[in-house]
Amino acid sequence: MNFLAKNSATLDGEIRCPGDKSISQRIVMISSLINSDMKISGFLNGNDPISTANALIQVGAGIKISGTDVIIKKQDSIFKSSDQPIDLGNSGTGIRLLMGFLAGLNIKAILTGDESLIKRPMRRVTDPLTQMGADISTTDIGTPPVELNSGNIINDFLYKMPISSAQVKSSILLAALTSKKKVTVIENKITRDHTEKMIDYFGGDIQVETYKNGRKIILNPSELQPRQNYNVAGDFSSASFLIVAGLIAKSSNILIKNVGLNKSRSGLLNILKEMGANIKIHNQQESCNEKIGDIEVSSSNLNGIEIGGTIIPNIIDEIPILSIAAAAANGKTIIKDAKELRVKESDRLEAIAAGLGKLNVPFELYEDGIQISGVNELSPDDDEIDSYGDHRIAMSFLISSLISKKDIRVKNCENIYTSFPNFFELMGDMGLKMERYG
Ligand code: S3P
Repeated sequence: MNFLAKNSATLDGEIRCPGDKSISQRIVMISSLINSDMKISGFLNGNDPISTANALIQVGAGIKISGTDVIIKKQDSIFKSSDQPIDLGNSGTGIRLLMGFLAGLNIKAILTGDESLIKRPMRRVTDPLTQMGADISTTDIGTPPVELNSGNIINDFLYKMPISSAQVKSSILLAALTSKKKVTVIENKITRDHTEKMIDYFGGDIQVETYKNGRKIILNPSELQPRQNYNVAGDFSSASFLIVAGLIAKSSNILIKNVGLNKSRSGLLNILKEMGANIKIHNQQESCNEKIGDIEVSSSNLNGIEIGGTIIPNIIDEIPILSIAAAAANGKTIIKDAKELRVKESDRLEAIAAGLGKLNVPFELYEDGIQISGVNELSPDDDEIDSYGDHRIAMSFLISSLISKKDIRVKNCENIYTSFPNFFELMGDMGLKMERYG
């Protein structure tokens, strides 16, 4: 599925941010574990959360999805092993979190995924889960399919994370939660903390302490408490596409409502403000232990910036769209310490570099980052840009059309539906003209 985006001078309107992908996947897992009738609102009805929900249904959970509402129905007997492979589609979060969740429940299963997911590294999760007592294995090169057999999760496991990854942290926490064992996880840099916040929201015994530049998380065995409702906050990562679009458009004023403002996710706001962005936050409040608010954005003159270190895990999914802001900015932007981008849905550093090359934006690629020299206005080649099947790369380059002299063509856009199913509709409502081609 290929899309062409035309240069659109004006963007305006008020839109509601789609539900958070990370939270949507966590809430179907945790509410299935509680196994009590409950309604989830604002669920992200995108392919990734749907894959995760279907995987849980395959092992016996009572989940019914209807648009952005999800009904959890208490099951008499829940969680059984599956003799059919469980397909997590494109979802790295789905497969990695489920590994811990199911290992703690002693479920036998084979977890697999699409062409992209079966190339992604899983030992970062299977290694600590094995140390915890799980019986779990990958292919010889550490990729899916992942096979889970009955193991025995030990009590009081301590894990110092060698990489900064919320997926790894969450998988370990979920293994301890479902097996009702104590665990302590230490992270060197703060990564997104939705799992911790959700466990706390449902009454779990979890303590989070500052530890050097990161955190120490201690989860003690406890019974989670049922709740009748859960509202999923809007996805800051999806909002970031709208935010940057609003900043780089020639004339814009947009209001994005109900955006998740969890501090471990919203670092891009500080970076963009430092770059000179006109961004205002309204109506800040708390919902289900997560901060939310409305974000107002208008056209801005951006300046380049240098970033690296502890902020990187906080903005890891926003770096593709930050690269487009950098291309529109005055001067150089340098992004370092972001090697993790190489093992996302695509090698995002290579994908960003390839796309910027087609747009004739000067860049220098590093092993762990990229330097981008802003050009204000893009003069692309006539060639199409490859998203490498990566939703965030596809959306970023479609948005670059706002500063382009010519139309921008992006191929392989189908995975936009994994995280932002109404991207074309919302962008179209705001004034970005896009159409299918080929
Ligand atoms: C996610 C964590 C991040 C992020 C991914 C979602 C999560 O991955 O890139 O899109 O929901 O925990 P890592 O934790 O591997 O960095």
